[in-house]
Amino acid sequence: EEPGWVNRFDVVVVGSGIAGLTAALECRGLGSVLIVTKDVIASGSTNWAQGGIASVQAEGDTVEQHVTDTLVAGAGLCIEQAVRVLVSEGPDEVAKLIARGAEFDRDAAGELELTREGGHHRNRIAHAGGDATGAEIERALIAAVRADPGIEIVEQALVLDLIPADVAPEEPPAVAGVTLHVLGAGTREGVGAVHARAVILATGGIGQIYAATTNPPVSTGDGVAAAFRAGARLRDIEFIQFHPTVLYLGPGARGQLPLVSEAVRGEGGHLLNGKGERFMVGQHELAELAPRDVVAKAIMREMAAENTDHVYVDGRMLGEETWRVRFPTILHSCRRAGIDPVVDLIPVSPACHYFCGGIETDLDGATSLGGLYACGEVASSGVHGANRLASNSLLEGLVFARRIAARLEAEQPPFRPVAADTRRPGLIDRVVVPAMQKSMSRNAGGLRDAAGLDRCAADLTRLTANGSTRPGVATWEATNLLTVATAVVVAARTREESRGAHWRDDVEGRRDEWLGHLLLELVPTAEG
Ligand code: SIN
Repeated sequence: EEPGWVNRFDVVVVGSGIAGLTAALECRGLGSVLIVTKDVIASGSTNWAQGGIASVQAEGDTVEQHVTDTLVAGAGLCIEQAVRVLVSEGPDEVAKLIARGAEFDRDAAGELELTREGGHHRNRIAHAGGDATGAEIERALIAAVRADPGIEIVEQALVLDLIPADVAPEEPPAVAGVTLHVLGAGTREGVGAVHARAVILATGGIGQIYAATTNPPVSTGDGVAAAFRAGARLRDIEFIQFHPTVLYLGPGARGQLPLVSEAVRGEGGHLLNGKGERFMVGQHELAELAPRDVVAKAIMREMAAENTDHVYVDGRMLGEETWRVRFPTILHSCRRAGIDPVVDLIPVSPACHYFCGGIETDLDGATSLGGLYACGEVASSGVHGANRLASNSLLEGLVFARRIAARLEAEQPPFRPVAADTRRPGLIDRVVVPAMQKSMSRNAGGLRDAAGLDRCAADLTRLTANGSTRPGVATWEATNLLTVATAVVVAARTREESRGAHWRDDVEGRRDEWLGHLLLELVPTAEG
């Protein structure tokens, strides 16, 4: 479809979670800012974040300790310089978030209440509303962007593709803006184009490539897919973190499932198998608070040994008052499912949670394409390596959004001329999505092997052949999901070792020859 209208903004931000909203606020110095978001503004993953935001706050905690915990969780693949940036700049960015209006839970002395999650050796996770941290952050940031007359927001608008810039042959490829499809009525409707000096992707994760995930329905990998189609380099995309404790709602449960935060274990909850045994004790010095991949794998092993599809979180020792004040969201989800965590064990199983890799960026969020920046879950900034440390992701969104703004202020990029663009992706019919999710969950999820990944690749090739001539949001989402799933399977098949969140049943353990990053890039062919 040809754009029916064209707008110009200095900066266009795609996505409206912590990374996108922070980027919009930080980029105001550059001029006009447009936030484009696919659904209503608060529909992304940030709103669902429970545990909190990690940073060095407590007496006795140190940058070195937070760096070490992050590197250990990352299983050898974090980029240390990026981790140092994240951890050392984190406390100031959290302070800025508080100054922007986010209210975190505090103790009687007025100090931030700090909890612990898997892989952390200190209490350093700030939370809000007990376990509704993301919702409070989102509330505060939405209020801040809405109060800023220099920021425009367009909701119900899916970014279709990035617009290539017309660059000289010796220059690196660059983007000049985005094309988008606006569903709602208003000053912009239908397919249009926004030209900008900088495009910032903050579109979040890809959880919907699987049948069961903690991610909301909007997490369909749109930013990753659009960047990949435009020629941007992806990194570490085989590392998809499965959260160990997602509420088990029966064998056929699909779509977005409720999380049972690691903070329940951080506050003293235990993991039990069907025999009532604490199976994490003796497996790791941190027992139930071992890094997430270690706990998820132990649960999967336990389930296989017991031939069952769930284990249990025991939070009965916390008592009614703690459940009510500290974990109101989880209490509500459990009770809706007929489970009272004050007296009952909570059935849980691992489900897809977080995309550790993404669009490769440098320390300032710059991608391999000129004019294109990425922050938050969509980006691979290098801080997560093979397995993200709990509650580092909200922090990443804050820190790297600000660094992008600083880089743009320093460089003052120009509006780039738009190239004549004849590329159009073949669109895929939405009907194939459930079959894709099923194959991905079965063959490319928490447990992988070469044969399963090959079967999955064949399934995806077959499903991709179901073309669609009806461009609409669902068709674009299906196209993006299939694009991302295919890339993930290629990467997962290539990495022949088990490391962090990538667990290959057919190749045990880490291998030195794989101590490096897998980069993926589309190479144009003569046929296009
Ligand atoms: C949780 O609350 O367990 C999730 C925290 C995270 O994913 O960082």
